[in-house]
Order: sequence, then structure tokens, then C-alpha cells
Amino acid sequence: MGYPLNRMRRTRLTPAIRALLGSSTYRPQNLILPMFVREGAESPKEIPSMPGVFQHSLTSFIQYAERAQSFGIQAIAIFGVPMHKDARGSEASNPNGITQVAIRVLKDRFGDSLLAIPDLCLDEFSDHGHCGILGQNGEVDNDKTLDRYREIAISLANSGADIVAPSGMMDGQVGAIRQVLDDEGYTDCGILAYSAKYASCLYGPFRDAVEVSIQGGGDRKSYQQDIFRDKREALLEAKLDVDEGADFVMVKPAGTNLDVIAHLRENIDVPICAYQVSGEYSMIAAASAKGWLDRNSLIKESLHSIFRSGADMAITYFALEIAEELYG
Ligand code: PBG
Repeated sequence: MGYPLNRMRRTRLTPAIRALLGSSTYRPQNLILPMFVREGAESPKEIPSMPGVFQHSLTSFIQYAERAQSFGIQAIAIFGVPMHKDARGSEASNPNGITQVAIRVLKDRFGDSLLAIPDLCLDEFSDHGHCGILGQNGEVDNDKTLDRYREIAISLANSGADIVAPSGMMDGQVGAIRQVLDDEGYTDCGILAYSAKYASCLYGPFRDAVEVSIQGGGDRKSYQQDIFRDKREALLEAKLDVDEGADFVMVKPAGTNLDVIAHLRENIDVPICAYQVSGEYSMIAAASAKGWLDRNSLIKESLHSIFRSGADMAITYFALEIAEELYG
């Protein structure tokens, strides 16, 4: 993390001395590039609320992954956007669904040199836009959802996923997924658990990206965490996930929850991943497009604060942009 420079009494603080004392807190290898892959797309399509980020075709997905890898990135978070959506999110566990196909082409091309980390959730695949299966009264049914998550986990692992990332915040999701993966022989498929995921307005642009709108204008407050609650709740969730078998825990959004990252860092041992989400991307992109703030400085400042607060890795839509600068 770097030696405190103000303790250097005499040595002149040249750039070489700063570098020697470790002023950089992250490398491209610590960054995970999230990518959207759209079923049936023939060319990449820019997401209006995320200029510079695309819904990819399979071809452009691989080209981008190739570029990312050439600049030192070693992990891709995959979000499939299916053509067909229904109440149970059937496409999420289809062996030939868009996410499964994307994982297979990525693994065929890159093998172990690029990690495939698919989202494990239902919102991208369901016609109602919720992360789970709905019960009679229109509420998310936790246990029916776990049954679907088990099916999705198997299908993603079977396609070659290195790590699955359950993002739905259902109770018991990590334990259910760990057990079914082990039962089916996928004992080395890891779990990146969205442990502290706040019901934030900062996911708005993501919903454009995966073409989701929540039926009836609802929200996710019944299963995501309340932003205004104490951070002890986040620690409790993360500890439960670790007990259930999580290999990594996630805090999301990153920039508005640096205190939570630091709190988890001090209290649990597994690696902590921070997600700099779509809305954080859009704020930086918009303000810099207007010429109000400097894009590059802002990206670096935001990422440094995330790593300085204790994250071991970060998912960020800026991953490739910043890797291009850092690499070499
Ligand atoms: C759920 C999921 C979401 C994000 C990642 N996984 C949306 C949500 O929970 O509402 C948001 C990521 C972002 O905003 O960049 N499948």
C-alpha cells in the first residue's frame, strides 16, 4: 500500500522514490472487466446511459476479452442478455443460453489464462425483472428461487465457469449453490458472493444494459440491503456467506460504501471484491463528457480509494481503460 511519504525526513521525493516506496495500490491483474453479451447481436451496441460500454455480440465479446488480456486483465464478469424472457427465467439455465455460450467461447479461446465469472441471477432472464421466482402474492419466494439458483449454478459450472457470482441476495443462496456444485462434482468452481449489496439507485444504467425493468415499478428492498442501516448488518451477511462456503465476498456499490469495505477487511479473512457499479461509471462519464471533471484523474481517484479501503479486487467498467494505461 505504500510507505507513508511524510515520514521520509531527508530523501528528496522524486517520482522514482515514490514508485520505490509503492505508491500504486492496484494493477490490471486486480481488476475484473464486466461485459454484457447479447443473444443474437451481430455487432456491439453502445448503452445510452453508459457511453463507452457496449452490449456485445459474441464476436466483439471475444475481441474485447483479447484486448483486455493483452493489457494484463485476467478476469471477466459475464452478464448475458437473452432474447427470450419468462417468469422463471428459463434461459438462465439453458445449456445453450447466451451466458453459457459466452463462457464456452471464452474458455475455449483463453483456457486458464482468463477467468470466467458469470452472474448467477434471474433478473436479466425474467420477464418481471426481479432477481427471484415470484410467489402467489407477487413477492419473491426465497426457497423456490434457491431451486432455480441450483439449476443455474450447475449449468454455468458445466459450461466452464471458474467462479459463479450469485447476486440475488436470497437467504441461504451460497450454501445451496455450494452444496449442489459439490454434489455434482464441481468442487473447484468458486463462489463470489454478493454479500453486502445495497438497494442502490446506482444500478439504474445496468438495467438499461440488460434491458430490465421491474414489473409495476417495484424495487428490490425486500431482498437487498437497506442503504441507511448500520454496517454491522453487512458484516453479518458476509460472515454468513463465508460460513456457507463463499470464497470471496462482494461489497456493492463500492464508492459509497468504502466504510463497509474497510469494516469487512478488518473482520474477515476471505478476499474482498468491490463492485464499482454502472451508476458510478455513468457519473464519471457524464461529468467528464461535460468537461466539468477530468475523467482519467477521477477514475484513478475512485479506484485508489476502493483499494486503499481494503478491497483485494474490483469489478469496474473502467478496467480496460485503466489497464491500458497501467500496463507495461
Ligand atoms: C443482478 C445484478 C445487478 C448488478 C449486478 N448484478 C443489478 C441489481 O441488483 O439491481 C448491478 C451492477 C451495476 O449496476 O453495474 N443480476
